[in-house]
Amino acid sequence: MASSSREDGPPEDASAAAPTYAGMADLVPALPLETRCSPFALRQYSGFWLPEAVLLRGIPALHAGFVPRPDDVLLASFPKSGTTWLKALAFAIAHRAAHPPSSGDHPLRRSNPHDLVRFVEVGAALAGRTDDGMDAAVAELEALPSPRVLATHLPYSLLPPRVLAANNRIVYVCRDPKDALVSSWLFTRGASASLGVDTESFTLSEALELFREGRCFYGPQWRHVLEYWEASRRAATSPAVAANVLFLTYEEMLRDPAGNLRRMAEFMGCAFSEEEVAGRVVDQIVELCSLEKLKNMEANRSGRRNTSGIRSDAFFRKGVAGDWSSHMSPEMGKMVDQAMEDALRGSGFSFCQFINSDERRLTTGGSD
Ligand code: A3P
Repeated sequence: MASSSREDGPPEDASAAAPTYAGMADLVPALPLETRCSPFALRQYSGFWLPEAVLLRGIPALHAGFVPRPDDVLLASFPKSGTTWLKALAFAIAHRAAHPPSSGDHPLRRSNPHDLVRFVEVGAALAGRTDDGMDAAVAELEALPSPRVLATHLPYSLLPPRVLAANNRIVYVCRDPKDALVSSWLFTRGASASLGVDTESFTLSEALELFREGRCFYGPQWRHVLEYWEASRRAATSPAVAANVLFLTYEEMLRDPAGNLRRMAEFMGCAFSEEEVAGRVVDQIVELCSLEKLKNMEANRSGRRNTSGIRSDAFFRKGVAGDWSSHMSPEMGKMVDQAMEDALRGSGFSFCQFINSDERRLTTGGSD
């Protein structure tokens, strides 16, 4: 297992109790570089491969200026693990009083889920290279009304200490590495091509090799998952001292969307009442947030771009478990499984806990 050594950790500020990231502009250019995962350059930092812009601006701005609130809910995920779905579900849960899911004018019918639930590190990362731009991105988060539903791809170990100290509720979604890899490879090719970057030469075999080495967006995936899983276990045994983490899996959500929706609502502190259940509010949210429904909303159709500049339709594809086998050979699948098993040996966590070997193809109804 890779160590979580902080040799390449944030520049220390002797006058502050928590580490500061003020010196990242000097540190980042010296960090190991990976350019094969287009369109963004990745740098290895604190054991993870993160987009350069997130390291230069996203993390410093977040750690310096983000002020958590007790009722914040943070959705966390490794990319291509079901983040878009989780965002839609959490938004619909949190705002169901103001926006009943049956409403024809529901925000999810007008906006991409990524525009309704923002990644806390992305605004500043995309902001210009000025302190003003970074401050403005954090101020935008500050301006959101409570209760805020926010999201992050950051590893647990790089969350701002203030978030952990505030004991904010964190919902994490984890997915079969093979499906996350294939989904990511297809997404990267699509996103890069739409930015004019040639992706024909980026093969799945190459993506697999990089993934096995952890050289991928926010990778290694196994380490990302493990950190949140361990935090969820600590939260279960000593909630007073650890962040509050609900650990979900994409596969379980496909198997039982209503049951997992109810778990989420309870965890978020706004459980469904008996009247709501009887009034089919749970079913209505599940339906509103289904892949088929969201994919066909005008806001998510081909051509429209979300606030990060990515085409909104790129986030919706098949939405099934086991689709990796449409793209990878069984041998390639075994290579991924073996790499994960080796990396996780002795950790207490295994992807086999929730991924069936028969790879039942669970679907919410999408297609390529
Ligand atoms: P596939 O590429 O396997 O179809 P993320 O949101 O983290 O980027 O993950 C994207 C994956 O989630 C894609 O998987 C996408 O199709 C799937 N997805 C998006 N919206 C979904 C929804 N409402 N229900 C189920 N899966 C969804």
